[in-house]
Amino acid sequence: MRQLPQLFLEQMQALLGAEFAAFKVALETGEREYAIRANGLKVSAPDLQKLLQPTHLEAVPWSELGLYAPRGARLGANALHHAGAFYVQEASAQAVALALEVKPNLRVLDLCAAPGGKSTHLAALMQNTGVLVCNEISATRAKALAENLERLGCIGVVTNEEPAKLAQKWGASFDRVLVDAPCSGEGMFRKHEAAIQSWSEAHVQTCAVRQLAILEHAAALLAENGVLVYSTCTFSIAENEAVINQFLKVHPEFSLEEIPGFRAGIGGIGSRLFPHEIRGEGHFLARLRKNTGDPVHAVTELRAVSSKIWREFLDEFVVPAGVPLEWRGEIHMAHPEMPDLNGIRALRAGIPVAHLEKNRLEPHHGLSRVQQKAVLEIEADEIAAFLRGETITRVGSTGWLVLQTQGFALGWGKHVGSTIKNHYPKHLRGKIFQLETDED
Ligand SMILES: C[S@@+](CC[C@H](N)C(=O)[O-])C[C@H]1O[C@@H](n2cnc3c(N)ncnc32)[C@H](O)[C@@H]1O
Repeated sequence: MRQLPQLFLEQMQALLGAEFAAFKVALETGEREYAIRANGLKVSAPDLQKLLQPTHLEAVPWSELGLYAPRGARLGANALHHAGAFYVQEASAQAVALALEVKPNLRVLDLCAAPGGKSTHLAALMQNTGVLVCNEISATRAKALAENLERLGCIGVVTNEEPAKLAQKWGASFDRVLVDAPCSGEGMFRKHEAAIQSWSEAHVQTCAVRQLAILEHAAALLAENGVLVYSTCTFSIAENEAVINQFLKVHPEFSLEEIPGFRAGIGGIGSRLFPHEIRGEGHFLARLRKNTGDPVHAVTELRAVSSKIWREFLDEFVVPAGVPLEWRGEIHMAHPEMPDLNGIRALRAGIPVAHLEKNRLEPHHGLSRVQQKAVLEIEADEIAAFLRGETITRVGSTGWLVLQTQGFALGWGKHVGSTIKNHYPKHLRGKIFQLETDED
């Protein structure tokens, strides 16, 4: 049985009344729920389910792409996970990107984005169109975020900035803003023992202050008629309804919108997901619409790649639409309306497609996840070898190939004679994803 903080239990009793007993059982002794989300850019949930047989995965009722994973299924280590066919994401967390109501061609900002669960979901819902900017304040977490976008073949900018800096630089320029706020993590008590250990009333209060500050900047980044979703994985009123209440007091230009399908929050503010009511961990969501404001679009001046080597590259590879931008020794395809990145710490300007070598370009790992040309399906024993960085043997030929499993790209190989040289990125080689640890 988990030992939960006494003060936390008292607060929950006050919040839930007669329901408290059921909640306490779910949190103290209940098993956490495991789930994955099919990468909608590549596969539907029913098709993914077939590919993962004989493992049986049940559908997540509120998420078309979601599937519950049986405990101990070790899906994080599956080759299809390496190939970006799915993302390990707890079921309640899958409600968040859906609440933002994105559609193709919008300008969307995910302000607290690492490791990328919601960002990769948003990219799928936007079908890799429009402008998606994923920001993360921590440099190490921003790196993981960029890797996850790459793994799933998502097109999006990755920045590593303070929300205040982005608000000052870009102003009201996004149609949708997501604030998946850092919180005290009470909703993760079944998932991470550390969340229980680090809980304190003082931490809850610190989080609430920070959340309100982040919301302020998010509001400044949202264009007129834009939608902002605020979410946390905690139960405390202080970090949920109270934050929204305080925000609305000073922002009469915002109005609350209902999120259908889930129980209303306290005082009708937002929605709540409780582990004693649904198959998922604890979450809070609120959707707000901005009724006034002037849209401003700050657009980067792109330095296009002009040279002959780019044309040669295009003769050989299929690249996603966009403007090619030279970016620290790489070529990224950027959206023509990408926000201005001058003076902003950023890891990605769209989708990386090539490395700039001396007088030539080599395909980037990111491109392998979106290009369909010249593919080679490899066998089970070869997959493990490829993911470790080893070469593969085939009858003699020359040229670049995307090596794939069950139709999902793993990465580049270069055929030279009877050897296919391994171009799987060195930092990913031998990496094992744990179902328990690689999600948000
Ligand atoms: C709940 S997590 C985000 C999870 C992510 N949206 C996902 O689905 O994978 C909150 C993130 O906010 C970041 N963060 C912490 N302080 C912040 C701040 N002051 N402003 C913006 N982000 C912050 C944390 O580093 C953390 O990555």
